[in-house]
Amino acid sequence: MFDKVFARQFLAAWPRAEGTDEIDRIAKSPTSIWAVVPRYGRFLFTLVMMFKPRRILEVGMANGVSCAYIAKAQLSYLQQDGAHVIIDPFQSTQWHNAGRAMLERLGLDRNIEVIEDCSIHAIPNLEKQGQRFDLAFIDGNHCLDYTLADVLASDRVLCIGGLIVLDDSRAFGVRMAVPYLDRYRVNLTRIRFDNWLVHWWREHISGRRRMTVYQKNSEDVRGAPGT
Ligand SMILES: C[S@@+](CC[C@H](N)C(=O)[O-])C[C@H]1O[C@@H](n2cnc3c(N)ncnc32)[C@H](O)[C@@H]1O
Repeated sequence: MFDKVFARQFLAAWPRAEGTDEIDRIAKSPTSIWAVVPRYGRFLFTLVMMFKPRRILEVGMANGVSCAYIAKAQLSYLQQDGAHVIIDPFQSTQWHNAGRAMLERLGLDRNIEVIEDCSIHAIPNLEKQGQRFDLAFIDGNHCLDYTLADVLASDRVLCIGGLIVLDDSRAFGVRMAVPYLDRYRVNLTRIRFDNWLVHWWREHISGRRRMTVYQKNSEDVRGAPGT
């Protein structure tokens, strides 16, 4: 489980992430619309490097910038037998396969599978196929109901101990979802990377983009008979 020591090691490693220069340059380019910024791309990169998930689920591909940070980290410790399933209903239509093309160009497409469907359909299909994941990165439709639906569906395919990472905690839907998840999703433990003061400042005062991370501590049993 994620503990204080791991969080401290993570905070020390994040600013020193190396090997992402080319992706940072792409992330900064004006054509990379809606993409994660390099600071949070390296956040994802560091999280994957340290946590070493074997099977990764990602919602929202666009130009493929977050996918590239994740794939680059995963390929550094897992050349084969890894999985990186990316869901985006608009990859070949609105995005003209830009994400797929970039991963191919960077040689990061080895473990990639792209599903062109809405996450609310695609993730339950993965669940029915018996697929399980160690990390889910959610950056699709940021409306409140879609965000909660993505967390609900991702939690159902996540192994215990796995991480759910929500992008852009400033977006209205994500901002509304986080207090609900904190309070009512008791099987998801929020990982606070800072001491309470810095955390409070980041949450309430700083308007900067940031990511929110939960770790699954048990199965969700709400609604089951006897609970
Ligand atoms: C903010 S962008 C993702 C950016 C990407 N993570 C990156 O860093 O480059 C949001 C993406 O979600 C996709 N999207 C919108 N609705 C979706 C849905 N219902 N299911 C999955 N993806 C969705 C959009 O097509 C878009 O590519």
